[in-house]
Amino acid sequence: MKNIWEDSVYNENEFLRLSNLMLKELQNHLENSKNSTSKTINWNSPENELSFWLDFLNNGKKDDFVKEVLTRTIHVHNPKYVGHQVAAPAPITAITAMVSALLNNGMAVYEMGMAPSAIERVVTDEICKTIGYDKNSGGFLTSGGTLANLTALLSARKAVVKEDIWNHGTTKPLGILVCEEAHYCVDRAARIMGLGEKGIIKIPATSQFDMDTTLLEQYFNKALESGIEIFAIVGSAPSTATGAYDDLQKIAQFAQQKNIWFHVDGAHGGAAIYSQKYKHLVKGIENADSVVIDGHKMMLMPTITTALLFKNKLHAQHTFSQKADYLLTDTEEDQWYQSGKKTFECTKTMMSLHWFVLLKYYGVALFDEFVTRQYDLAKDFALIVDKHPNFELAVQPKSNILCFRYIRPSIPGEQSNEINARIREMILVDGEFYMVQTKLNGILYLRTTLMNPLTTIEHLKALLDKILAIATKISS
Ligand SMILES: Cc1ncc(COP(=O)(O)O)c(C=O)c1O
Repeated sequence: MKNIWEDSVYNENEFLRLSNLMLKELQNHLENSKNSTSKTINWNSPENELSFWLDFLNNGKKDDFVKEVLTRTIHVHNPKYVGHQVAAPAPITAITAMVSALLNNGMAVYEMGMAPSAIERVVTDEICKTIGYDKNSGGFLTSGGTLANLTALLSARKAVVKEDIWNHGTTKPLGILVCEEAHYCVDRAARIMGLGEKGIIKIPATSQFDMDTTLLEQYFNKALESGIEIFAIVGSAPSTATGAYDDLQKIAQFAQQKNIWFHVDGAHGGAAIYSQKYKHLVKGIENADSVVIDGHKMMLMPTITTALLFKNKLHAQHTFSQKADYLLTDTEEDQWYQSGKKTFECTKTMMSLHWFVLLKYYGVALFDEFVTRQYDLAKDFALIVDKHPNFELAVQPKSNILCFRYIRPSIPGEQSNEINARIREMILVDGEFYMVQTKLNGILYLRTTLMNPLTTIEHLKALLDKILAIATKISS
């Protein structure tokens, strides 16, 4: 009699057969993407997509599964993908993702992930060293920048606020300072923590879209006057829409002066710590109490893996403990190997494997090479956009994020948003390129994030040509 478990589901030969089949598809996909012989996206409406998969479950051929997934997904490995901030993962990290999935070590306690726990320590220590932290520092990996920012703010509250909120709940109005341009997840984290709208003190941005630090004192005092205790300030490195870096040095000085926690949301561009050319953008990060860096953004890894680093590693251990902050002492045992005590999540993937495999196979220089290349490319692209009479930059790029719009003297201001939105829509439906859009001070800009190390200036020139052709078509 056929045994479904031994003969099929857990059969190692069947595993190899399916792997070979699927890996071959992925190899073709990498080749097609690299050469842009396939579209970046074959856009389909949600309803049509749903019908396809409902039908495929009953009528599709099993062996076509990966092929269909490939046809019906966005291709971040295509150099013409210049959209949202997700990496075109180094293919070797797809293998570590598979190893993690098959071994499925849940990581909540040391025994459930001995190697990945030790590897996580190696990796996070390396990042701490590059940030410029001393031996008291440490961190862990967690599932995404959103969760990491929330965890950091929980640590901040535990460390700074005298009242024991973890055990007794909120007893007074608390707040954080953050630039109005920060990623929405900081706002969300603060609301989850019960700070409410009043507790999220948004510092206006300068004309360059970074935090206007000259306003800090004023906003801090205003909060105090209305009875809000500020316990943390968040700097963006950089913010999402325009890629502008806040002045981390100034924020660090302010935090020190006011005795509040300084957190850096470096989910996107914290990786600039590795760039010899661009690390000046994160000057002051070494004074932050906590830092978030996403592996799946500017560090060539698959979703989802984020490093949360602490200047004093003991804070990481106390975030979710019942003890009040005053019990934090340096003599305490550093339980670095007990990931689950420090992370929000209980079970997590063996995400440390991605970081380690890149360090082991390509060395730390890979991150310098990547960040520097992408930031340089954005600057080169900006030069071309800036010179062209039919394009206007929102702001000079500080990172690999570039916002610009199509302009023409005959287009009145109020029609500009409409035309640029139409351009973006037609680019999406056309599918050769993928880019996004954003609104800055009410003006709609086309937004590109240069995530792929195979994207060249020639690809970007071709994108501009395509936009010009579409604009001509729309207005004829
Ligand atoms: C600055 C910044 N912080 C946080 C996040 C959220 O990170 P994640 O998508 O890993 O949750 C993003 C995402 O784009 C971001 O740009």
